[in-house]
Amino acid sequence: MKPTPPVSLADLVELEAFPIHDPASPRYTAVVDGARSDLRAEGCAVLSGFVRAEAIELLNEEVLERKKATHYSTQVINPYFHTAVNPDYPSDHPVNTFLERTSGFIPGDAWDQDSATDMLFRSPEVAGFVADCLEIPALYCYDDPLARLVTNVCDPGQQLTWHFDTNEFTVTVLVQPADEGGMFEYAPNIRSADNEGFDAIAEVLAGGRRGVRTLDLRPGDLQIFMGRFSMHRVTRVGEKSRPRHTTILAYTPEPGVIGRVERTRQLFGRVLPAHEHAEQERVRADALLD
Ligand SMILES: [Fe+2]
Repeated sequence: MKPTPPVSLADLVELEAFPIHDPASPRYTAVVDGARSDLRAEGCAVLSGFVRAEAIELLNEEVLERKKATHYSTQVINPYFHTAVNPDYPSDHPVNTFLERTSGFIPGDAWDQDSATDMLFRSPEVAGFVADCLEIPALYCYDDPLARLVTNVCDPGQQLTWHFDTNEFTVTVLVQPADEGGMFEYAPNIRSADNEGFDAIAEVLAGGRRGVRTLDLRPGDLQIFMGRFSMHRVTRVGEKSRPRHTTILAYTPEPGVIGRVERTRQLFGRVLPAHEHAEQERVRADALLD
């Protein structure tokens, strides 16, 4: 096995532009203020060149080494992750508009603790910085052994179709862009807590471009995205393109969070004893409360 090169935070993150090790610095405050205003306005902040170019090469090598661990699944879903027709709505309604989604995930247990990818994820400075951008007190590494640190793989011909996220925010690093296709697109705040926005959503699902933004993400860009109200997708990767690799750093506002058994099986095709155990604990906790 080849040795892993030693890495420190300064090897991974462009600290001059993003001094996450020095939250008291004026530069840190300026970067956080910029991200906050982008998140408030559009639900999306891109920190361009956050991960250093040399480190991104290392991160991509680590993805390639683990690519055989990718779990792929193809579903035909509506933007709300449902797969079944709802007879209460007309056939051309967003609820009944189903598009293909192929997701490939390299799971959390594929990353060893001394990998640069894992080191980036576990860096308290990164979690603290993202929490500041999101204006929340603290963030913790998601405790789920499969979902905590994941690389999304879009191979040639694959796409993540239009959808909303169930989680409030997602933190991703683009590790390898596609040569053709594989663009991140989003419709900022196309719905809100009190307005489903079905008409605007139907227009976008039918190919409309009104209000749709396309991001030209580069390797090393850190993206903080609030996908609850902004419908988004990754366009189909070209048949002759390189695959697109995006690493998802999963953080939670509370420590010790673990995913549900059913959802875990959907995403990764398996569950671990930790998931079963957490599910039993939930049942016990519920029984006590009753
Ligand atoms: Fe999403």
